[in-house]
Formats: sequence, C-alpha cells, structure tokens
Amino acid sequence: MTPTFSPILLLSLLLLLLSPLSSPIGIPDASRESQSSAVPNFAKAEAQKLIRGFNLRPKQDINTGPGAAAESPVGGPMLVEKPLRLPVLGDAGNSIQDLGHHAGYYRLPDTKDARMFYFFFESRKNKSSDPVVIWLTGGPGCSSELALFYENGPFHIAKNLSLLWNDFGWDQASNLIYVDQPTGTGFSYSSSENDTRHDETGVSNDLYNFLQGFFKLHPQYAKNDFYITGESYAGHYIPALAARVNQGNKANEGIHINLKGFAMGNGLTDPIIQYKAYPDFALAMKLINQSDYTSIVTELVPSCEQASTICGDDGGDSCANAFQTCNSIFNEILDITGGINYYDIRKQCVGQLCYDFSNMENLLNQQKVRDALGVGDIDFVSCSSTVYEAMLTDWMRNLEIGIPALLEDGIKMLVYAGEYDLICNWLGNFKWVNAMAWSGQKDFVAAPNVSFVVDGAEKGLMKSHGPLTFLKVHDAGHMVPMDQPKAALEMLRRWTQGKLAVTQSKVRIVPL
Ligand SMILES: *[C@@H]1O[C@H](CO)[C@@H](O)[C@H](O)[C@H]1NC(C)=O
Ligand SMILES: *[C@@H]1O[C@H](CO)[C@@H](O)[C@H](O)[C@H]1NC(C)=O
Ligand SMILES: *[C@@H]1O[C@H](CO)[C@@H](O)[C@H](O)[C@H]1NC(C)=O
Ligand SMILES: *[C@@H]1O[C@H](CO)[C@@H](O)[C@H](O)[C@H]1NC(C)=O
Ligand SMILES: *[C@@H]1O[C@H](CO)[C@@H](O)[C@H](O)[C@H]1NC(C)=O
Repeated sequence: MTPTFSPILLLSLLLLLLSPLSSPIGIPDASRESQSSAVPNFAKAEAQKLIRGFNLRPKQDINTGPGAAAESPVGGPMLVEKPLRLPVLGDAGNSIQDLGHHAGYYRLPDTKDARMFYFFFESRKNKSSDPVVIWLTGGPGCSSELALFYENGPFHIAKNLSLLWNDFGWDQASNLIYVDQPTGTGFSYSSSENDTRHDETGVSNDLYNFLQGFFKLHPQYAKNDFYITGESYAGHYIPALAARVNQGNKANEGIHINLKGFAMGNGLTDPIIQYKAYPDFALAMKLINQSDYTSIVTELVPSCEQASTICGDDGGDSCANAFQTCNSIFNEILDITGGINYYDIRKQCVGQLCYDFSNMENLLNQQKVRDALGVGDIDFVSCSSTVYEAMLTDWMRNLEIGIPALLEDGIKMLVYAGEYDLICNWLGNFKWVNAMAWSGQKDFVAAPNVSFVVDGAEKGLMKSHGPLTFLKVHDAGHMVPMDQPKAALEMLRRWTQGKLAVTQSKVRIVPL
C-alpha cells in the first residue's frame, strides 16, 4: 500500500496471470522452486511497469550503492551528517538564521554493508520545545522523499525544479526526520543482498539502531518528545518500530527515546479486517452495486479470511498465498470500477498515469543536489521493486497485535484516514481500531463522533478515548498532507500537544 504506486494491483495482476503455477498447498519442491523464481521475475517486470505508470523511472531495481570498491573503511564513523543548503524561494514564514537542515548516512550495525539515508529538518518554530517526529513512507520500497516533496516537507518542487517553502510543512511544528528504508530504497543502500529486509523484525531493528545513532549525534533532542508517523504500508512499520522503541526503553538499552505516540495515515495494519472492508467501503461509496457486493462477499471473502488465518499461524509461503487470495477482492472491485484512482476515488487515472512524481527524481538526480546531500554518485531509487518483493510475506501479517500493550503503557496512537482513499480506506481502519481489545475498548467504541475544526470549518470527524484517537479527514484521498495540508499540520500540532481531542467544538451525533 504505497502511497505512490499500486502494489496490490501489481500483485493481483501478477498472481492472476501466474495462477496455474501457484497452487498453494501440497506442491512438490520442484514446482515450488520454479514458482519462486517465476514470481519474482514477473513481479519485477510488473513493478517496473507500474512505477513508470506513476511517472517514476528508477535506474535500478534496488539501491546497491557505489559498489564494493567505494566501501568506507571498517572503523569509520557510524554516522556522517552534513548541513544541507538548498536554495529555497520565498518566505520561510519567519526569519530563519539557521535553517538547521541536514542530510546524512548512518552505517547500520548488524549488517554487512548497509547505509541508511535520512533528512533532518529542525523546527522552523521552537527547536527546543517542539517534538522530534520521524516520517516513514510505505510501498514497501518507496522513498520517504515522496512525502517530503509532495506532502509534508519544508518545501515543494516547482515545475522548473526550484524549491518553494511549504507553509504547512510539518517542520512548522516539529523537528522532522525522513528516512529512506528498508535498505535499498531511495538513497539507502547496501552492496550485500543479505542486508535486504523481509519482515518487521528486520525493519524495526534497523530503524531503532538508526534512532540510537541519531540521538547520539543530537543529544540535545533526546529530551524532546518523540513521535513516529507515516502512511500506507508504514501501517506495518510504525507499530513494529513503536514496540521496538518501547522494548529498548524498558530494557535500558542504549539511549532512552522519549516515545510519546505514533500515528498512521491511511495505513495497512490489520489486513484481515481491512481486506474484508473493501466491499463494504465500495458499496457505501457506490463503486459497486448490491449484486457485485454479494458475490464478492460470498465468493472471495471467506477464502481470504482462511488464507490469512493460515498466514498468521504458519507464516512464510502461506503469507504470499494469503496475499494472492485476498487481493482478488481488491482486484475484483478494480475490474468493476475501471480506471479509477484507488488512492482517491474522486479521480480517474489518465491512461497509465495516476500521479506524476517525476520531478522528485529529476531534482534528486541533479549533480548539484547530490553534492548538497552528500550522496556522491549514488543513484536515487524512488521505489524499489526488489525491496517491495522481498517484503511480500510480511504483507498479510497483522500488526495490530502489538498495539494494546503500547496503549496500556500510555503511548498515544492516532489513526487518521482521508475519506476518499480506497486502497487503505477509512472504514477498514475504523473497523480494526474499534475491534482492538484493550482496557479502553468499551469507552472508545461508545465515544461520540466529534468535529475536527480548523479555521472554523469542519475538516474531519473523530473519536477519542484516552491515548487513542481515530480521525476521518474530509476532502482527502490516500495522501492527507497533500490534499489537506493545513488540516494535516493542525492535526499533528494538536495531537503532539495533547489538544486534538479537547479542542473540538461540538459533538456531532452523526456517523463518521
Ligand atoms: C522555546 O521553548 C522553550 C521551552 O518551552 C522556551 O523556554 C523558549 O523561550 C522558547 N523559545 C522561543 C523562541 O519561543
Ligand atoms: C521557477 O518557478 C518559480 C515558481 O513558479 C518562480 O518563482 C521562479 O522565478 C522560477 N525560476 C526560474 C529560474 O525560472
Ligand atoms: C549471505 O548469507 C549467506 C547465507 O547465510 C552466506 O552464505 C553468504 O556468505 C552471505 N554473503 C555475504 C556477502 O555476507
Ligand atoms: C451490477 O453491476 C454489474 C457490473 O459490475 C452489472 O453487470 C449488473 O447488471 C449490475 N446489477 C444490477 C442489479 O444493477
Ligand atoms: C459514529 O460513526 C460511526 C461510523 O460511521 C457510526 O457507526 C456510529 O453510529 C457513529 N456514532 C454516533 C453516535 O453517531
């Protein structure tokens, strides 16, 4: 569920075509082997097609870096960061003497050769009192720079590739970090295939290690509140990282990270519930009619549920099978709806093109920009089909299971969703959040739906109890900070300041 291209569509197409090969149960080893090489090859080709459909043209399938010859010597510094000085047009909104913009590479421990690339933008407001916020884009395998430049970063890219200040960048209310991950995504790289990640354990350990390196270099920020945010497939990464940080804190492992909360925007977190919600959402939004609905619910949903349960029990290949089975639900809805943009059902995709993010690649591949970033000759891999494919058996994993323990520890969770997204729609998210068993469940379920008001206008509807808030954002698709920049910034500000649930003006006795 990337924010940016359609993994689900890709894999559904792929698996549809491959269905004769992918008999799920009891296949002999030989045929399993042929399947396991055919699927990735086909997936790669399809991923390339889809990435181009979004007007991205990564030169490589995965970022392998400068090659072994350029490896930095053993014993070199773990973290190399440099001040970033990119020319930005217009008014930053205040007199910024010291921009406090940085870009850097962190040498990941416990890997052969992995380097994690990140941007760090100090707050445009109050660096010492604003929280530290990390943002993770999904994919899996898409660079967080997609959000930086098209959603909530300090600046946007003009047509002529100039940078323009974004009045609603999240650096207006936080010290903001964007990380390219898992390894092989964006500017993050490794020369060793062994560093490729396949699950949330690997992903969350790498991110945790990165945060340790980050706070070691920036000890003055370790006392600030810390929040984990992101979108789409980050609905998997975020609960895993939050649990990893909480575990590290409890075990007095390394530097204490002042984790206060985590927020997922149009995320994929509890796949069984969310896949089952596709036909409900599609019917409610009139994308499908009642007879389509009935046939999807009777013919496709039960096998998805069954396959997902087996994935939960057995893991591994059974999860790739669940992915295939469940995606037939989504695929069927797409077949019925034709050329709809499944990130925003108000829109159509024109030909293959649903979004045009090509300026991000054009910008980041300019030599002067690479020099400013300190990435040398390393290519930028906007979305990595290889990373995507490597995470395939992670997709149907239920990441809801670690969340109740975090809530009981008083760590806040915000689940927000743009109302017109189909792929990680608000209804599926609302359902899993309500279904989650924790000490506040009854009160959360019973809580009223209230308005989220920004500048006197209702920008969404929300429901809260204790550390948990759900927010449905009006007039937005999958990428809420792109569609509702001001409301999204206000959401972040109020939530991190503990004011989101208390500043609402009126209770609306209405459905969300
Ligand atoms: C920033 O916040 C700190 C702590 O709340 C406060 O002491 C300081 O005056 C603030 N600085 C500015 C420029 O507002
Ligand atoms: C690039 O576009 C921006 C915004 O449209 C404009 O302000 C700027 O003058 C342009 N720069 C050049 C060199 O044309
Ligand atoms: C990668 O892992 C395999 C299996 O554990 C090992 O045989 C191989 O030597 C490793 N390769 C590198 C480059 O470390
Ligand atoms: C429902 O939509 C399908 C196309 O998806 C169409 O074939 C069918 O006739 C429609 N049924 C009704 C009752 O409108
Ligand atoms: C709140 O919204 C949900 C979802 O639409 C709905 O099921 C529920 O009835 C609403 N609650 C009230 C009190 O209107």
